[in-house]
Amino acid sequence: MPSISDSDELIFFVNGRKVIEKNPDPEMNLLFYLIRLTGTKYACGGGGCGACTVMVSRYDPKNKKIHHYPATACLVPICSLHGAAITTVEGVGSIKKRIHPVQERLAKCHGTQCGFCSPGMVMSIYTLLRNHPEPTPDQITEALGGNLCRCTGYRPIVESGKTFSPGSTVCQMKGSGKCCMDPDERSFVGREEKMCTKLYNEDEFQPLDPSQEPIFPPELIRMAEDPNKRRLTFQGARTIWFMPVTLEDLLELKASYPKAPLVMGNTAVGPSIKFKGEFHPVFISPLGLPELHFVNVTNNATIGAGNSLEQFKDALNFLVSEQPKERTKTYYALLKHLRTLAGPPIRNMATIGGHVASQPNFSDLTPILAAGNATINVISKEGERQLPLNGPFFERSLEEASLKPEEVVLSISIPYSTQWQLVAGFRLAQRQENSFAIVNAGMSVEFEEGTNTIKDLRMFFGSVAPTVVSAKQTCKQLLGRQWDDQMLSDSCRWVLEEIRIPPAAKGGMVEFRRTLIISLLFKFYLKVRRWLNEMDPQKFPDIPEKFVSALDDFPIETPQGIQMFQCVDPSQPQQDPVGHPVMHQSAIKHATGEAKYVDDRPPMDQELALVVVTSTRAHAKITSLDVSEALECPGVVDVITAEDVPGDNNHSGEIFFAQSEVICVGQIVCAVAADTYAHAKEAAKHVKIAYDDIEPAIITIEQALEHDSFLSPEKKIEQGNVECAFKHVDQVIEGEVHVEGQEHFYLETQTILAIPQTEDKEMVLHLGTQFPTHVQEYVSAALKVPRNRIACRMKRAGGAFGGKVTKPALLGAVAAVAANKTGRPIRFILDRGNDMLITAGRHPLLGKYKIGFMNNGEIKAADVEYYINGGCTPDESELVIEFIVLKSENAYYIPNFRCRGRACKTNLPSNTAFRGFGFPQATVVVEAYITAVASKCNLLPEEVKEINMYKKTSKTAYKQTFDPEPLRRCWKECLEKSSFHARKKAAEEFNKKNYWKKRGLAVTPMKFSIGIPIAFYNQAAALVHIYIDGSVLLSHGGCELGQGLHTKMIQVASRELNIPQSYVHLSETSTVSVPNAVFTAGSMGTDINGKAVQNACQILLDRLQPIIKKNPEGKWKEWVAKAFEESINLSATGYFKGYQTNMDWEKEEGDAYPYYVYGAACSEVEVDCLTGAHKLLRTDIFMDAAFSINPALDIGQVEGAFIQGMGFYTIEELKYSPKGVLYSRGPDDYKIPTVTEIPKEFYVTLVHSRNPIAIYSSKGLGEAGMFLGSSVLFAIYDAVTAARKERGLSDTFPLNSPATPEVIRMSCTDQFTDMIPRDDPSTFTPWSIHVS
Ligand SMILES: Cc1cc2nc3c(=O)[nH]c(=O)nc-3n(C[C@H](O)[C@H](O)[C@H](O)COP(=O)(O)OP(=O)(O)OC[C@H]3O[C@@H](n4cnc5c(N)ncnc54)[C@H](O)[C@@H]3O)c2cc1C
Ligand code: FES
Ligand code: FES
Repeated sequence: MPSISDSDELIFFVNGRKVIEKNPDPEMNLLFYLIRLTGTKYACGGGGCGACTVMVSRYDPKNKKIHHYPATACLVPICSLHGAAITTVEGVGSIKKRIHPVQERLAKCHGTQCGFCSPGMVMSIYTLLRNHPEPTPDQITEALGGNLCRCTGYRPIVESGKTFSPGSTVCQMKGSGKCCMDPDERSFVGREEKMCTKLYNEDEFQPLDPSQEPIFPPELIRMAEDPNKRRLTFQGARTIWFMPVTLEDLLELKASYPKAPLVMGNTAVGPSIKFKGEFHPVFISPLGLPELHFVNVTNNATIGAGNSLEQFKDALNFLVSEQPKERTKTYYALLKHLRTLAGPPIRNMATIGGHVASQPNFSDLTPILAAGNATINVISKEGERQLPLNGPFFERSLEEASLKPEEVVLSISIPYSTQWQLVAGFRLAQRQENSFAIVNAGMSVEFEEGTNTIKDLRMFFGSVAPTVVSAKQTCKQLLGRQWDDQMLSDSCRWVLEEIRIPPAAKGGMVEFRRTLIISLLFKFYLKVRRWLNEMDPQKFPDIPEKFVSALDDFPIETPQGIQMFQCVDPSQPQQDPVGHPVMHQSAIKHATGEAKYVDDRPPMDQELALVVVTSTRAHAKITSLDVSEALECPGVVDVITAEDVPGDNNHSGEIFFAQSEVICVGQIVCAVAADTYAHAKEAAKHVKIAYDDIEPAIITIEQALEHDSFLSPEKKIEQGNVECAFKHVDQVIEGEVHVEGQEHFYLETQTILAIPQTEDKEMVLHLGTQFPTHVQEYVSAALKVPRNRIACRMKRAGGAFGGKVTKPALLGAVAAVAANKTGRPIRFILDRGNDMLITAGRHPLLGKYKIGFMNNGEIKAADVEYYINGGCTPDESELVIEFIVLKSENAYYIPNFRCRGRACKTNLPSNTAFRGFGFPQATVVVEAYITAVASKCNLLPEEVKEINMYKKTSKTAYKQTFDPEPLRRCWKECLEKSSFHARKKAAEEFNKKNYWKKRGLAVTPMKFSIGIPIAFYNQAAALVHIYIDGSVLLSHGGCELGQGLHTKMIQVASRELNIPQSYVHLSETSTVSVPNAVFTAGSMGTDINGKAVQNACQILLDRLQPIIKKNPEGKWKEWVAKAFEESINLSATGYFKGYQTNMDWEKEEGDAYPYYVYGAACSEVEVDCLTGAHKLLRTDIFMDAAFSINPALDIGQVEGAFIQGMGFYTIEELKYSPKGVLYSRGPDDYKIPTVTEIPKEFYVTLVHSRNPIAIYSSKGLGEAGMFLGSSVLFAIYDAVTAARKERGLSDTFPLNSPATPEVIRMSCTDQFTDMIPRDDPSTFTPWSIHVS
């Protein structure tokens, strides 16, 4: 590395404050630099989630304008910020100073739940408003495209943004041309008068006043305009950063350091350093160099390489508005892809020069640029030259066609298209936006004038090989041919021969990708035919009408909808908040970034960072563990292994540190404690572990069954006489359903701060968990100290969804052992990759069924077996299988019913609790066999559902009595209000007219039990203190995970004590204030803690009664003060013994659950049979909420769970290698829904019923919505069935989950799927396998 004696000063502004860094470290990114500004969150570190979004503002001296854009701080090197002004969420507004309208509206529209994504959301909307104070709804949706939220389901976030659109009203049907308050539309709102649709009052919103925004620092304007700017150099510990200010200087530097990357957007360099371990001693950053920042549109589009993709988009938009259409076909094609490429922060950071120079094989732009005959203008000290952006460039197949190390891309020239040329781009990704393409393509054809004779043809494909590839041979062979069906057929065959994806290719999905290549080619063929027809309708016939819908991708539209709930009884006292849509207690803090999570706690004296080293083998003996090199690394204090555990290293079957044997990839073997995270991470790479594989390594359920490998005994429920019933039915079907797993993807990864105390072996742990008692148990076992020495404290978690029930205990024990050994506080944060690897998720499931039924659809007998992939340790797998067996009848009465289940032991990380706890997987099997029965009886699945649904007060298969009346109501209302039958007919009509796009609908009913069949798990306690000033401090055993539990508890205390909510405060959950609390899960948080809080408040109120009686006109504060004077105890513990549930597995009966939540959802989708993409057109949910304590929070849970469920059943796909290595370790390769996936129309109704057993007759709604997401899965299958029927294929086909684009496409068998080469599975090892 070159070294210079003096580093220049780095100058930038953060929230209006000048920052001067005398020795800036080029390796430091903005996210870590802003460590004290805790509003900017870490959730992935790779630009994929938007949690760290900030606004960057720069002054452009050329046009004298200030440019504001969003950027992901995790990918911004601080050295790139010289002369920039950064605004973080703290700079936008705060409770201390003044909250900004964006923050206020996000909070008040209920757009925050756990709040971890909220600062990023605020920054995205805020930046948009800085550029467009009156944005359109579509601009809002687009602005949020790079921000992930795992809790809310996005609808309320979009809605908060839409309030800034001119003319926007609270009416969510806006844009549809209808309004829910119009007399005609009110019939939709319902016949019952007491339904409300307003979840917030927009009259309360402060107006947006753009003139109040902070000004751009004048000093930065002066700096930018300084005519004497000179090269800056920043010298770090290991690296050096050059910032040239002239082109000559840049070329000089590039000549001196040809291997040094040019850091522009850093969106390719940054991830390579972070995730691939690349190291660069020298960086050259010409960002802002005027020579790279120009746009010339005189004869073509010549775009300076330094323009961001967003600026590139603006330039193209300008061109298409100015130039005749025939010239701009390449630009149109590029614009289409620029809308969905990554999200706005990445598009604003990444440059077009960086994009072409980094030559990614998945590039969405380069295939189109190549097809459009673009060239790059490159320069070096040797001079300038032009390089055509065609095959040899991307394929790196010719040296002279490639960029030389010392060369810099100056600009890109994209010629105008010609009159007889058509250019088009195609792409298919797992998700429409912010997702790398599975296959993409750029194609161009030019015809001899006035003919359909091919003069020139170019086809480029991305994501099918290690580079973008050109189908050059095929194109050559087709020159001179007519654009007709024979040409299409030949070109498909030839292209498949030319572009061969090997059977074991990285990325998998080989047959799908092969199919896509020719499906996209077919789309191009149709597009060209249509265009030729437009050119000369006489000469060139149009494509068949039925094929027209194949031409376009699904549009991205702004979602809309209505939420309905029961209005509060007008006679209810005004002060009583119960039943009102009260905002989340922390919502404003979420939106301002002032809500603190564990990692926001400032560093402690002597604190160490912990990084774990995990097993790379699924099943192996550890033959040696050598930590000596790691111990020598800078900053390392210790390496902790199993030997250092003073107590149990194996507690209840969960192993803290692997000792002699590893049982999965991702098992913790040891942990490095160092002064900084970077040091610990670096040292962890130096731990050497040698393994000797042990056979067998069991990865899949099938392998577990082969080896009889189980975690627990079989669980069974049986009623009637199944064998006998099978003999008396009209038909019997058998089948198998595979349901893959799911990653929790809570935005806040698992984080623990373990602080050893100086006395009595005490230890304090701060962590985000759903079960502090469990952490206390594990830490006490690991340290061999009584539980009374271990305090677990939890303020809030940034999402949990079941993933923080058991895993924090294991991780807490690891952190505590490290803290105990080193005697120093330990900060243990799992990065996203390790979090996904180590903590696992939802159990993959295999369901096998045999169903006997009558020809009228009545099911008489069912024999169902379930197997789940439990992973390597017990965790909660046994309980999950119990839930599956008990709940799997769903809403149906089957008189002869046998259900068995067993948890398989495999060599995968141990799967764990996840929202719905087995129900969302198991019920797919139920709905699948119902669908199969319907198909055999020639009925709609909905008809078979209706026939077999519980109709009157009945007993479940385990003999618990219940009344399904609310189920029937939800079902009926759902069918009616969604106009299911009319829309089903309309879909059939649509399907008749469209061959390549199909619509499908499905209605799914649900009977979901809440709670746990073990009575002691339903108990809860609360502690309520009244202070002498009348303020109330509330503690209870439940954890705030984003669901709004604390908000509801405040509502309960407010009602019970008859005081305003503002008097009640809730600080944290702690094992010190409420001992032995059970987990916050199973939708029971409000039920059980609410009763405990109510009990404590009632005790206190009873104690105050004599005082109140004496002074009935008095005020609360007076009564409290008086009570104190009279020595009345103002503190009380409330207790709820719990629902007395039980289950006798011997007798196969019990009152397993306290009550049921019912619901129904209707979804309609459209699928693209050629690509496998789908669009969710509309969803109607009717959820039985009984009496909702807080409709805003309950609707938030229903919508959030629905979207999470929809993701689970459609696009979320975990990929494992055959050897049990999880590939999907971040947002790049695991796709949760974004704002573009949610239903275009989304209607949610909370249905009123009675539930006297629960507090205020409410119901727990945390999990139930998850399963309703399967209505999307079955709607997709309905659409695919329509396609298959039309193609003369069987309408029964495997109905597995998730229905990814791959599954959809490959189920819509056609001439293209028939054409692709198939490989004999015995001849290769696939890249990935399914584990269900
Ligand atoms: C979260 C995320 C999502 C993404 N999604 C997509 C997607 O959906 N589709 C897609 O196509 N792409 C996607 N990308 C990739 C993205 O488009 C590229 O990373 C980006 O265009 C690279 O530009 P950059 O300015 O950031 O390059 P940098 O990272 O700054 O540089 C990349 C490389 O190019 C070289 N380089 C840069 N500029 C020049 C120049 N002027 N002359 C010579 N060499 C140069 C550098 O030396 C370096 O080697 C995504 C990236 C991220 C992080
Ligand atoms: S943490 Fe920066 S984008 Fe995810
Ligand atoms: S509120 Fe968006 S991730 Fe939790």
